[in-house]
Amino acid sequence: MTLKKATEELDRVIGRHRWVKEEDIAKLPYMEAIVKETMRLHPLAPLITPRLARYDCNVGGYDIPKGTIVLVNVWAIGRDPSIWDNPNEFFPERFKDKTIDVKGHNFELLPFGAGRRACLGNNLGLKVVQSTLANMVHGFSWRLPGNMKEEDLNMDEISLLTTSKKNLLLLWLRLDFHHIFILRLDRLKFTFHKVCSNTLLSH
Ligand code: HEM
Repeated sequence: MTLKKATEELDRVIGRHRWVKEEDIAKLPYMEAIVKETMRLHPLAPLITPRLARYDCNVGGYDIPKGTIVLVNVWAIGRDPSIWDNPNEFFPERFKDKTIDVKGHNFELLPFGAGRRACLGNNLGLKVVQSTLANMVHGFSWRLPGNMKEEDLNMDEISLLTTSKKNLLLLWLRLDFHHIFILRLDRLKFTFHKVCSNTLLSH
């Protein structure tokens, strides 16, 4: 359903004859919401950078003595049922008509951290993710193979300092091209491999 709505928005705003440009993103609120929802459920850095308390303080009713090293678990905040309805559900519509942003102003959603040590590249990072995802949805047909159901899609992550998807994705184009591509997504690589036949898709 999410994919269908995103594709409808892209077809309406962009049309079928060109790729999405960076300046189009402001006209694609549903795509923006999808990125927020993805960052809520799958933050790149689940524990952000450790903080050191420079003086005794109280946060949310908890006393934090000076010298304490504090780990902020943004992964858990993003799935906290006291903040989010149905927190484990991927539901971009939850951001509709809300001003909540991802740049450290709203503590319930902190994919780029917050405060003085917040991500310095948040504008660049966000724009790259938004336009890459928008073009991946716009330019490719995403289908699950065989009888596989959405709930069977393996969303396992590999989590060290940062988190990435564990398993490869396969995809093919829906615009006016004839190449088959493999999208390789692993810890260190994010590359498209062009191949000439679709035989690989059955593997
Ligand atoms: C979607 C892409 C990105 C995400 C999700 C992301 C996320 C983060 C997070 C969570 C932190 C820790 C913030 C904190 O502890 O409060 C961080 C720190 C940082 N990020 Fe990013 N980042 C992204 C892209 C970038 C890019 C493109 C650059 C540079 C061009 C960048 C440069 C930095 C730097 C320099 C820090 C350390 C800041 C400090 O410790 O003072 N990031 N990032």
